[in-house]
Amino acid sequence: MSTDPLVVFTPSGKRGRFPAGTPVLTAARRLGVDLDSVCGGRGICSKCQVAPAYGAFPKHGVTVAEDALSPWNAVEERYDSKRGLKPGRRLGCQAQILRDVVIDVPPESQVHRQVVRKSAAVRAIEMDPATRLHLVEVAEPDMHEPSGDFERLAAALEAQWGIAGVTCDLSLLARLQPALRKGGWQVTVAVHSPHRGAAPRVLEIWPGLHEGGLYGLAIDVGSTTIAAHLTDLDTGEVRASSGIMNPQIRFGEDLMSRVSYAMMNPGGEAEMTAAVREAIDTLATEIAAEAAIDPGLIVETVFVCNPVMHHLLLGIDPVELGQAPFALATSESLELEARDLGLGAINPRARAYVLPCIAGHVGADAAAVALSEEPWNSSDLALIVDVGTNAEILLGDTSRVLACSSPTGPAFEGAQISAGQRAAPGAIEAVRIDPETKEPRFRVIGCALWSDEEGFAEAVGPGGVTGICGSGIIEAVAELRMAGLMDASGLIGSAEQTGSPRCVPEGRTHAYLLHDATAEGGPRITVTQGDIRAIQLAKSALYAGARLLMDQRGVDRVDRVVLAGAFGAHISPLHAMVLGMIPDVPLDKVTSAGNAAGTGARIALLNRGARAEIERRVREIVKVETAIEPRFQEHFVAANAIPHATAAFPELARVAPLPRVAFNAGSGTEDEGGRRRRRRRA
Ligand code: FES
Repeated sequence: MSTDPLVVFTPSGKRGRFPAGTPVLTAARRLGVDLDSVCGGRGICSKCQVAPAYGAFPKHGVTVAEDALSPWNAVEERYDSKRGLKPGRRLGCQAQILRDVVIDVPPESQVHRQVVRKSAAVRAIEMDPATRLHLVEVAEPDMHEPSGDFERLAAALEAQWGIAGVTCDLSLLARLQPALRKGGWQVTVAVHSPHRGAAPRVLEIWPGLHEGGLYGLAIDVGSTTIAAHLTDLDTGEVRASSGIMNPQIRFGEDLMSRVSYAMMNPGGEAEMTAAVREAIDTLATEIAAEAAIDPGLIVETVFVCNPVMHHLLLGIDPVELGQAPFALATSESLELEARDLGLGAINPRARAYVLPCIAGHVGADAAAVALSEEPWNSSDLALIVDVGTNAEILLGDTSRVLACSSPTGPAFEGAQISAGQRAAPGAIEAVRIDPETKEPRFRVIGCALWSDEEGFAEAVGPGGVTGICGSGIIEAVAELRMAGLMDASGLIGSAEQTGSPRCVPEGRTHAYLLHDATAEGGPRITVTQGDIRAIQLAKSALYAGARLLMDQRGVDRVDRVVLAGAFGAHISPLHAMVLGMIPDVPLDKVTSAGNAAGTGARIALLNRGARAEIERRVREIVKVETAIEPRFQEHFVAANAIPHATAAFPELARVAPLPRVAFNAGSGTEDEGGRRRRRRRA
């Protein structure tokens, strides 16, 4: 048996014997222990920090003596005096193993460290970014063996880091020679190693050790807003998150109107491409400034977007997406130069990765939601709904995943609503109506008090109550139903029928008065019959899409519902169910995934394997096209009633029995809904 000292690494449990004098980093590498290093053991990057443990470890069968490692050396001394090492830490490349020892690798020293996600229910992101930093010693030029500086850099990367066959572009070559000479033939390079195919590329070079970090942007290009997360490619930490309005709104509020703009105006698609690219570039500049980071250190970008945004971002005319059979120019993921997407503010050699699209109506944003929620790993049948102007819907479990999109329109975002507004301070976001008195109370964004609580007017501030946002209108309509002020067909009763003076005539129909500040020069906020129709159209489209997937899957119920999207985070599950936006499930089985598309983009930014995984999964997802499916219309009409004309909602009935009221039996509301819908989809 070898008498060489034994080293046990925690938390991996990997162990092995090495000759006395072996550096801890060397042992870690031989055993495949995840221990980081940028400088390759030169004692300058401090990435290799470890925490030796002393004493008896019966679990490992080891007793660790005080002199198990070589004494603190000059390199560690220098590092400690300059930067400070945490107590108990050693540099793994300096400390040598002399006797049996247990070495803990703290999370920040692991290459593939896990980034904890906000939602505790979902797995952490494992760090494996495509671009990493490496310090290399490059051989000096030799007249007797002539070779180029780049060739010697490439040889050094292969010899010192095992990275073979690197390439670079002309703009980097121009920076190479001064950097090598300034660094005394020691340079740090950022190397991008794609997850498939192409050769690794050197994206950036710095003389000596570069300690300024490396960053990436995860960008969600939505129809209304563009959101970006500036993320540290070393730690996975989000350094800043920011958003900007999508300037394409001036060409059309929703996707189809933008497609029409491109159809009707020659060069219209190019205008929209230029507008969105400029906005993304501005956002990149702003977010880097906000985090006080040199934009030149941003070397990677990941894009997620719906199919129309995807084409417009890439400079492809989206006209084919406006008509059956809704053909995408490509559904595959793309690896590009970020500058080709107009990103001039960040590193000129930065890379861009665009997630694959699932289908002509189900975009890379839905792929990102799938990457975040992993329905293919769900043991129970999960319905995942990303609510926006287009609802993207996934249904699946370990056996199969299906996807579709449904044109809900902008009503859920407060548009097309008489007093509707975006979610901003002053907007009513939550509503309750007392079933006895039929009196409302509500809460507005930016104020924690309910409207019937003391001090509400002062707390809301001088801006006052300004309108109603998406979650507010959903709650208002659901509460009208629960309080018996509105019947299952969506009709609001008159004051006589309901006994509430808040039900006021409006044309030939009625409206419910939620808030009247006209005496103080403020707004009069009502929920009108037209508002209810708009919500009915949106919710029927959403439900019909989900139902269509359930048909395909051959099921009548799902086990759980996940509401994704920034808006999904604000929807109350109970009210969504009263409206019949989602199928009947126990209320505690409705969860919010927050901004799942943004999370998916971050996962793809930080983990190359995730890129390969989503590319593979997307090919396996069964795509269902709602626009050509005859049953969609059938489901849509039946879903017009609140909560539903035919489907039973037993779980809902258990928690919130709905009053049986009818204010105008036989008024043909379903017909009206069907007619309006046909018009809109045409
Ligand atoms: S590997 Fe860089 S300091 Fe140890």
